[in-house]
Amino acid sequence: MAAAAMAAAVVLAAVVAAAAAQAEVRWEVSYLTLEPLGQAQKVIAINNQFPGPLLNVTTNQNVRVNVQNNLDEPLLITWDGIQMRMNSWQDGVSGTNCPIPPGWNWTYQFQLKDQIGSFFYFPSLGLQRAAGGYGPITINNRATVPVPFGQPDGDITLFIGDWYTNSHIELRNMLDDGKDLGVPDAILINGRAPYRYDTTLVPDGLQYETVGVEPGKTYRFRVHNVGISTSLNFRIQNHKMLLVETEGTYTNQQNYTNLDIHVGQSYSFLVTMDQNASTDYYIVASPRFISNPQWSQVTGVAILQYSNSKGKASGPLPDAPNDYYDKYYSINQAKSIRMNTSAGAARPNPQGSFHYGSINITQTFVLKNEAPLRINGKQRRTINRISYSPPETPLRLADLHNLTGVYTTDFPAMPSNIPARVASSVLNASYKGFLEIIFQNNDTDIQTYHLDGYSFFVVGMDYGEWTPDRRNEYSRWDAISRCTTQVFPGGWTAVLISLDNVGIWNLRAEKLDNWYRGQEVYVKVADPLGYNITEMIMPDNVLYCGILKERQTPQVHESNSKSSAQAEAGWSNRLLASVMLVVAAVIFS
Ligand SMILES: *[C@@H]1O[C@H](CO)[C@@H](O)[C@H](O)[C@H]1NC(C)=O
Ligand SMILES: *[C@@H]1O[C@H](CO)[C@@H](O)[C@H](O)[C@H]1NC(C)=O
Ligand SMILES: *[C@@H]1O[C@H](CO)[C@@H](O)[C@H](O)[C@H]1NC(C)=O
Ligand SMILES: *[C@@H]1O[C@H](CO)[C@@H](O)[C@H](O)[C@H]1NC(C)=O
Ligand SMILES: *[C@@H]1O[C@H](CO)[C@@H](O)[C@H](O)[C@H]1NC(C)=O
Ligand SMILES: *[C@@H]1O[C@H](CO)[C@@H](O)[C@H](O)[C@H]1NC(C)=O
Ligand SMILES: *[C@@H]1O[C@H](CO)[C@@H](O)[C@H](O)[C@H]1NC(C)=O
Ligand SMILES: *[C@@H]1O[C@H](CO)[C@@H](O)[C@H](O)[C@H]1NC(C)=O
Ligand SMILES: *[C@@H]1O[C@H](CO)[C@@H](O)[C@H](O)[C@H]1NC(C)=O
Ligand SMILES: *[C@@H]1O[C@H](CO)[C@@H](O)[C@H](O)[C@H]1NC(C)=O
Repeated sequence: MAAAAMAAAVVLAAVVAAAAAQAEVRWEVSYLTLEPLGQAQKVIAINNQFPGPLLNVTTNQNVRVNVQNNLDEPLLITWDGIQMRMNSWQDGVSGTNCPIPPGWNWTYQFQLKDQIGSFFYFPSLGLQRAAGGYGPITINNRATVPVPFGQPDGDITLFIGDWYTNSHIELRNMLDDGKDLGVPDAILINGRAPYRYDTTLVPDGLQYETVGVEPGKTYRFRVHNVGISTSLNFRIQNHKMLLVETEGTYTNQQNYTNLDIHVGQSYSFLVTMDQNASTDYYIVASPRFISNPQWSQVTGVAILQYSNSKGKASGPLPDAPNDYYDKYYSINQAKSIRMNTSAGAARPNPQGSFHYGSINITQTFVLKNEAPLRINGKQRRTINRISYSPPETPLRLADLHNLTGVYTTDFPAMPSNIPARVASSVLNASYKGFLEIIFQNNDTDIQTYHLDGYSFFVVGMDYGEWTPDRRNEYSRWDAISRCTTQVFPGGWTAVLISLDNVGIWNLRAEKLDNWYRGQEVYVKVADPLGYNITEMIMPDNVLYCGILKERQTPQVHESNSKSSAQAEAGWSNRLLASVMLVVAAVIFS
């Protein structure tokens, strides 16, 4: 049965791929009532799927995604890790785009320039990701660039993440009231509850995820932590995980028995089904770096089921790393993730041919976060004592219209003891420069940061306060290039960035609660003469809001958006439906 489901998934995915060759999809974003933990909840689904559909595309392909917002809230979809080269207009965050109003649609149009790898998309506003709305993006190599490993027998995407039975609106209200979100109700895997590995911790009757596999075959697992704020340790019972790719870079291939995956991070592993199938096997995502021991009672558990499996998984879960007294375990693991310098990726020339380690640094930001601070009576999160407040008018649009006063460019590039304040302030970065960012974490909680528009080299991390002499220890040859990095509690992480992408780019805490409370900033990489040269012009469907809202012409809608949407989906849906019938016939005959 599981194998049949797997076969169906593979065929359906192929159809989606065929549709993606047109590089054009239409997504309806709507609430769907599901019971992931046994009680009804409104989750955000895309085309009635939660997690959302796969965007399966190839380097340099052009993509159009027509997003229909059927939620009762404004919506933006952001494309975590997609660099939107010269095109921050399509980034889908509040600093670059006006939100799509409820009932409206808007078409994102972008090119997947010079990228490969495993990423995901999600709704970027107001904690909506806590209700779902996420889905996978796979960018395949062009046929002319070899992948540095054999063709896997199948592709399996796993979304892991913490989850609350409270809605994203209730969670938002808690944060607004100065409360913390507390211990999550579960860790979901692909939107599903844990397998009942322990009858006292997991109630009966919940739906869990089963991954069906064939003995002897090798699968590519693409694992994304799309949760709210919990770092997770990921492992598959009795199976080695050969790490091959991280957020768009092919890694030096190494086996892991477990890997820490922090909020917003993505990894690809090759896993060979080389066990004897005496039982099913557990797939586990368990909390790490937790402040409250109750957190250890919530664990995500899915099932790996060989087609010749002789029985259910039972007994204890595979052990989490036993590193209570070894605070370097996780940091050393992170440092072991290296770039394969000889593999080609988006381009045929080797990934290592850009000798980042010998480029002189032209600009340094030291960005320090602290424990939550009270500002104007509210619990806020800061970077260098500034808590970001998104202006109603997107920053890039304000610039284009010569509006002043929307934001300031006085964001401090170094920490200081200025009084904490809420501001719409951005960081200036010099186009064509080589930027060093030190993330200094002055909190007792682990942090993750993500930068839009770029991939950065993670050259160093450690506990304690960063000092300039730590540059001597930077990894200058095969540091991993990625877009999301962790910063250990009381520690620092250093990244290097080649500033070759003009635009205004979001730099954010990926933990949703911290992000919501202001732990973000925009980095402005301007080329004053570059509009229509080094930067694309504003798209002709641009939405206006804030100070510019008078410019927006109303969108005309048919009274029944559902039926018009169905008509719109046209041939691809009909094709999908007929293929599903064929698959069903094969499976059930
Ligand atoms: C994605 O597209 C590639 C290239 O077109 C294809 O080979 C692959 O089977 C597709 N994968 C999935 C999971 O649909
Ligand atoms: C909204 O969807 C309609 C129908 O698919 C399409 O013609 C129109 O261009 C879309 N509008 C925008 C702003 O993307
Ligand atoms: C990874 O583990 C598998 C299974 O044990 C083994 O066959 C393979 O040689 C290992 N690969 C590396 C690079 O260590
Ligand atoms: C299957 O493998 C497990 C774990 O390696 C081992 O304990 C068990 O004896 C094996 N069973 C058979 C039937 O070979
Ligand atoms: C690096 O990539 C090359 C392909 O260029 C591949 O042959 C080699 O096995 C890879 N090495 C490691 C350690 O992943
Ligand atoms: C880097 O800086 C050093 C010393 O300041 C200088 O000698 C060297 O030429 C610079 N290298 C490049 C590539 O600009
Ligand atoms: C903004 O200022 C530039 C340079 O002065 C000018 O060319 C452009 O037309 C102005 N844009 C708008 C929308 O007023
Ligand atoms: C940032 O750049 C703008 C114009 O590009 C300039 O006016 C401003 O002074 C700069 N801010 C800082 C802090 O350098
Ligand atoms: C925060 O910074 C202060 C002052 O530098 C330092 O004494 C303290 O140890 C730091 N705390 C953490 C968790 O880094
Ligand atoms: C952009 O550049 C192209 C080619 O130089 C030109 O035809 C077009 O009018 C320009 N568009 C804008 C909005 O400046």
